[in-house]
Amino acid sequence: MKTTIIFATGNAGKMREIRMIMEGMNVEILSMKEAGIEIEICEDGTTFEENAGIKAAAVAAAAAERGMKAIVLADDSGLEVDYLNKEPGIYSARYMGEDTSYRIKNANIISRLEGVPMEQRTARFVCAIAAVFPDGESVVKRATMEGRIGYEEEGSNGFGYDPIFILPKYGCSTAALPPDVKNEESHRGKALRAMKAVIEEKITV
Ligand code: IMP
Repeated sequence: MKTTIIFATGNAGKMREIRMIMEGMNVEILSMKEAGIEIEICEDGTTFEENAGIKAAAVAAAAAERGMKAIVLADDSGLEVDYLNKEPGIYSARYMGEDTSYRIKNANIISRLEGVPMEQRTARFVCAIAAVFPDGESVVKRATMEGRIGYEEEGSNGFGYDPIFILPKYGCSTAALPPDVKNEESHRGKALRAMKAVIEEKITV
């Protein structure tokens, strides 16, 4: 029997990414909406792991209420800039206000790093993926992608803080990389692949 995975997101880009990564597995992957779950979740944790766990637990409870037997996955991610004491961190989406454009958020981060040399511009994207299995077990995987904050925006792929996030290995921003290359290197790609291994193990035993 096919296993159902519900990914607790409304983001089409994240759905595409998880479908690509889970390809080849005998699973059906549904977004929250496709699973008929529309709930407000208060992400009031203090770490990426906690917030991913809060989302996964809330959606797992909603799925159980609807009599669904599914693995629920949820992610929480963000950018940590070392020079800014790891800001914006878990507040990455809310930094300067949820509705503020990334052009403005990115310009603000660049201006807060004015005069700071490249070796002190270290930063990372962090992603935590939480899973709640139908037997109640929960697992969290965390992964990062290390880089530097650039001096200006570059590239038009990706989203969010990608135009200012330089990946030293490629010498360009993650917004200047083709999406499959970014997925290979990204915090979310790595965390999802680690979770894939856990799920594969779980559904074959
Ligand atoms: P989440 O969807 O609640 O996990 O919020 C994550 C936020 O972190 C996004 O809105 C972006 O601001 C930022 N972020 C996370 N991953 C990436 C990435 O791969 N590129 C650019 N920004 C990212």
